[in-house]
Amino acid sequence: MLFILNPNTEDIMSDTQKPGDSACLAMATPSSHSPSTPSRLKKWTITLVAFTVLYLIYSWLDTIKVKHNLPSLFHRVLIGAQHQWYVFDPTELHALAKAAVANSPDDTAAIIDYIVTNLTSTYPSNQIRLNTHQEWVFNNAGGAMGAMYIIHASITEYLIIFGTPLGTEGHTGYYPADNYFHILKGEQWAFEAGALEMQRFGPGDRNWTPRGVVRQYKMHKGCWALEYARGWIPGALPFGMADGLTSTLDIPTMYNTARITAREMLRNLLIGKI
Ligand SMILES: *[C@@H]1O[C@H](CO)[C@@H](O)[C@H](O)[C@H]1NC(C)=O
Repeated sequence: MLFILNPNTEDIMSDTQKPGDSACLAMATPSSHSPSTPSRLKKWTITLVAFTVLYLIYSWLDTIKVKHNLPSLFHRVLIGAQHQWYVFDPTELHALAKAAVANSPDDTAAIIDYIVTNLTSTYPSNQIRLNTHQEWVFNNAGGAMGAMYIIHASITEYLIIFGTPLGTEGHTGYYPADNYFHILKGEQWAFEAGALEMQRFGPGDRNWTPRGVVRQYKMHKGCWALEYARGWIPGALPFGMADGLTSTLDIPTMYNTARITAREMLRNLLIGKI
């Protein structure tokens, strides 16, 4: 890369080989041009250092999301910072989901409209970016399948409509975020290993799966939900993509999911919403 960007590329090349002489380029080997091996080593070292630094930053940011008993001033400052990052409030979202269900029970389209209209009038667009275009994509994760519409995605939060009129069942996923699942229509059943009875959630109910907790869930028959996750969202993305990569191989769906998610994260980053 540096070599290409160098304005004196022609001069450098002419020292060793004629520009445009593809046969000469093709035959260039580390032995005929001594800097090759050390520079490759340097490249790998830089890559390794870059990954280590990224990993350390990620790990550090991740600790912010853990609930501490305020052990130090340092952590108190970090926890103060997270209020700036989280825009949605779980209690308010639950109230909104309940109000939307009460306003038009069983009418999923009207419930979604109600939610999106409320959110866009509640939150100014310089505080958080919301996606008002209903771009539906399939989502396969943890063995379950449904369709989703991403209302919001940023580094620390996502808000989606997820569900299926057919029913599905699977693993909630082990990821570094709290998950609030508000049932809008139908029923969701869930249980944790160790429990012998299931929990049942109907329209207006909220199923909170704390960060790090895993459950089996079933959207018995049809079910639609408003799903809110807060935590370290990039850490949740591999789970969201794994079934696509190892099972469905539905490339257009994976492409669209990645495209919409990245676009929304970027739109939020650009207004300082992490
Ligand atoms: C949004 O919904 C909440 C919960 O029902 C309600 O308190 C609030 O007034 C609504 N906001 C708007 C702008 O409609």
